[in-house]
Amino acid sequence: MKNKTLAALCLGIAFLGCSKSSQNKKTDYPWWKETVIYQIYPRSFKDTNGDGIGDLKGIIEKLDYIKDLGVGAVWLNPVYSSPNADNGYDVSDYKNIMTDFGSMDDFDLLLSEMHKRNLKLIMDIVVNHSSDEHEWFKNSRSSRNNPYREYYHWWPAEKGKPNYRYSLFDVKGDAWKYDSLTNAYYLHYFSEKQPDLNWNNPKLRKEVNDIMIFWAKKGVDGFRLDAFQFAAKDPNFPKFPDGYEKNFIQYYAMQNGLHGYLKEMNSEVFTPFNTMSVSEGAGRNFVDAHELVDEDRNELNMAYAFEGVDIAKYEGYKLTDLKKVFSKWDSAFAEKGWLSVFLANHDQARMLSRFGNDSPDFRNPSAKMLQTFILSMRGTPYCYYGDELGMSNLNFNKIEQYQDIQAKNSYAKALSEGQDMGYFMKKLSFESRDNGRSPMQWTSEHEAGFTTAKPWLPVNPNFKTVNVSSEEKDAASNLNYFKKMVNLRKENPILIHGKYELLLKDHPNIYAYTRTLGKEKILVLLNFSKEKSSVHIKEMSQQPDIWINNYQSLESKNQTVSLLPYQACIMKL
Ligand code: GLC
Ligand code: CA
Repeated sequence: MKNKTLAALCLGIAFLGCSKSSQNKKTDYPWWKETVIYQIYPRSFKDTNGDGIGDLKGIIEKLDYIKDLGVGAVWLNPVYSSPNADNGYDVSDYKNIMTDFGSMDDFDLLLSEMHKRNLKLIMDIVVNHSSDEHEWFKNSRSSRNNPYREYYHWWPAEKGKPNYRYSLFDVKGDAWKYDSLTNAYYLHYFSEKQPDLNWNNPKLRKEVNDIMIFWAKKGVDGFRLDAFQFAAKDPNFPKFPDGYEKNFIQYYAMQNGLHGYLKEMNSEVFTPFNTMSVSEGAGRNFVDAHELVDEDRNELNMAYAFEGVDIAKYEGYKLTDLKKVFSKWDSAFAEKGWLSVFLANHDQARMLSRFGNDSPDFRNPSAKMLQTFILSMRGTPYCYYGDELGMSNLNFNKIEQYQDIQAKNSYAKALSEGQDMGYFMKKLSFESRDNGRSPMQWTSEHEAGFTTAKPWLPVNPNFKTVNVSSEEKDAASNLNYFKKMVNLRKENPILIHGKYELLLKDHPNIYAYTRTLGKEKILVLLNFSKEKSSVHIKEMSQQPDIWINNYQSLESKNQTVSLLPYQACIMKL
């Protein structure tokens, strides 16, 4: 820790007086703190064999594009064999590639081509549960005496019905599924095709660590642990209070044993193979989050918390709430630990539609403003594919259009509960995960250049204007702004490590903060609304040195700045 503080101070001094320092300065920080991570949903990135489904060869084809973005790592959603009940989050063979996506040879080529370009690869490890079509589960199900029985959570029916457990994806919301074959219930926190693995069993833990070692030996650089905060369970399945499901994270996350599993994983996989690790979910509170990621814990490098993305609902959100959440997470991690910064991923609707404004007039400034935000916060930024272009929601209106198990099952559940379906459909249209999974928009041609066939999920009709090839040609595009912002971050450690301080806490439209490193201080101003807004910033100099601005100019006089709709800028103070 001491060394790091020293390094930060030296950097601060080294860069004093020059806003844009030379690139690729070697620092003492691990790569995952100083890079931008690009997330690829393989099913939707690029199809090369004309089946309407993205594949590994498609990613290989686009590696130069990815490299050119300036990002340093790719997090790939699961590519393992899977019956696709939940698009790969139901793994039937952890050491094989899903046929839709290609072969192991394709994978090996992808990895080596990435490494050639100095890009790291982060694999998604889905081990809170497997697919019910995994050999382990088939065996486990087959008889009570099968050696794999203890790989999953079974409850013998003669003991009566187990205590209620809420399922996130099940149509009835019941996480226990009765299986007549052995007259027992098995547990599935997600869909019934995703039975939960029994982490109390050391044999299972060894299998999982071996799987990770298999990939680490190939040279994979990091792991993202899917839903792992739910992995530990009390085998007695005690009764939880009525209505607990409204607050289920408090009951499911971070149960006894979890830290031990992570320490074991760390000593067997992460440390010996020098791989980075990030978990989905950061526990129930800051204490949990620190216990997951603080260096002296020897568990994980990072976790990602959902409080930020959870703010934006169909009903809208208040910027003051967003500021509050991001500021409190930053301050909780100011001295120790490291955060992930994101506003979107494959489980969310598009960030532009939720946090910005996807109407034609405001799409571009608001997409750029949101990128300025993510890329100027402390922590490791994650960019979800297509957000660099300003891709937006699909806005389905019929249930038949949806592909996602969560959408379909929640619809069936809402219907059976007699919910107001008009409201439900509007909310689903805005919030559903399908919104964030539409094919990448490469060109203005057939199906946005994603496939020669019909894509598995429709291309967003805005692809004629929102696409890579048009944006590459336009100096003022979202894509070119994104690259500029990524570079700015790479070249200026203050954007990565600088201390964050919130200004104008109660302003309803403007998010303003400073970042400080050594003697250097910068100001970030973000207008999150379509209204023009003037603010007084006493820290501002008469002639600000502007590092980046999503408009041509900035109106300011006597420390009063007038920000245009969704205007974003960063200046040196
Ligand atoms: C995680 C994944 C999500 C998946 C779920 C079950 O939340 O991000 O896509 O549906 O786990 O694996
Ligand atoms: Ca394909």
